[in-house]
Amino acid sequence: MPIYEPGLEQVVSQNVKAGRLTFTTDYQEALKDAEFAFIAVGTPSGVDGEADLQYVRQVAEAIADTVDGAIVVINKSTVPVGTGDWVADVIRKRRNGRPLQFSVVSNPEFLREGSAIGDFMNPDRVVLGSLDREAAARVGKLYEPLRCPIMITDLRTAEMIKYASNAFLATRISFINEIACICEELGADVEEVARGMGLDKRIGHAFLNAGLGWGGSCFPKDVKALAHMAVLHGTHPQLLQAVMDINHNQRRRAVMKLRKALGTLDDKVIGVLGIAFKPNTDDIREAPALDIIHLMQNEGAIIRAYDPQAMDNARSILKKTTLCEGPYQVAEGADALVLATEWNEFKQLDFGKIKASMRGSIILDGRNLWDGETLRALGFTYFGMGRGTFLTE
Ligand SMILES: NC(=O)c1ccc[n+]([C@@H]2O[C@H](COP(=O)([O-])OP(=O)(O)OC[C@H]3O[C@@H](n4cnc5c(N)ncnc54)[C@H](O)[C@@H]3O)[C@@H](O)[C@H]2O)c1
Repeated sequence: MPIYEPGLEQVVSQNVKAGRLTFTTDYQEALKDAEFAFIAVGTPSGVDGEADLQYVRQVAEAIADTVDGAIVVINKSTVPVGTGDWVADVIRKRRNGRPLQFSVVSNPEFLREGSAIGDFMNPDRVVLGSLDREAAARVGKLYEPLRCPIMITDLRTAEMIKYASNAFLATRISFINEIACICEELGADVEEVARGMGLDKRIGHAFLNAGLGWGGSCFPKDVKALAHMAVLHGTHPQLLQAVMDINHNQRRRAVMKLRKALGTLDDKVIGVLGIAFKPNTDDIREAPALDIIHLMQNEGAIIRAYDPQAMDNARSILKKTTLCEGPYQVAEGADALVLATEWNEFKQLDFGKIKASMRGSIILDGRNLWDGETLRALGFTYFGMGRGTFLTE
């Protein structure tokens, strides 16, 4: 597999062996006799935050050039509201009068990297949007074995459900991060606050983890794209703007804490544990660790870093960073240690060994993974995110 995703290698090889799955870069071969074509290409952020649809266009044109039988074109990529109609236009124009029986169905994807297979197999819901309800129902049949609610709606609403869902989840994280900042100033512990809030059934515990904020290939680009759509159509997405600002600020705040604790970052050796934007993936797109590393390097810090899966991806981007073989090597000679990604393998470290090999004793736990009391008892100066001890130390 070209990417790291738990369980994916096995699912792919099983199905390739069974003859149910093949790969090709040839559109003719891929679309031969196809009743359904899924578009699942990237939709990265363009210059102003708008979604870049060049890959979706390429595929739509390729479908128009290749297919002659009836086909349902299913869009899985996250695309701006109205893209389904646009895809239909692109196909029609490209056919240039040659008839083609096709329908476009929006089928946004909700799986999470790191738990993609489980999420796909056990979705909370499948959303299908189309002007052609019969085509949407046929796509619904494909998902029937998953035994989950299947919601059929119109195209634009389906496209909006995806953006609104991601923006809401990002909002929950930024909300708890704002609460975390206030907790720090007032001496409360955001972890306990989130636990107490989450017990309320109307609130729940999910996506209430304070820390360095969200990253990855979806939240940043999708919140940006939704805000861009809103501005373009004359509304003022103030909440979305605040959600993005708070997220960026968490990274700056983490660096500020270190600067304050160390006096200066110039010539200080900082160890960073975790580079991927979250655990169980090697994806480093928009990872908080990258921003933090660059911010610290701009202030003269010398960075040593390690990630269980993302080292190959990191190598091409973090040219000025010493990439280490494990967490203990990261700690060697470090003035401070920063936890940027809460990988399982970082949960139970031998902190006695770490303390003995570090030059300093500062720990910034950017994901509130560790127990501050235990680390303080070992002689560390421990900072979490929103744990109310920042000012008193
Ligand atoms: N990654 C996620 O967790 C996730 C979750 C939900 C939705 N999505 C959405 O799914 C879409 C894909 O995301 P991703 O993270 O897999 O992106 P990605 O960039 O990792 O993968 C996109 C793939 O599309 C291929 N591609 C590009 N142009 C092509 C073309 N003309 N023909 C055939 N293939 C082509 C690329 O080679 C690449 O392998 C995006 O719109 C994203 O927002 C992603």
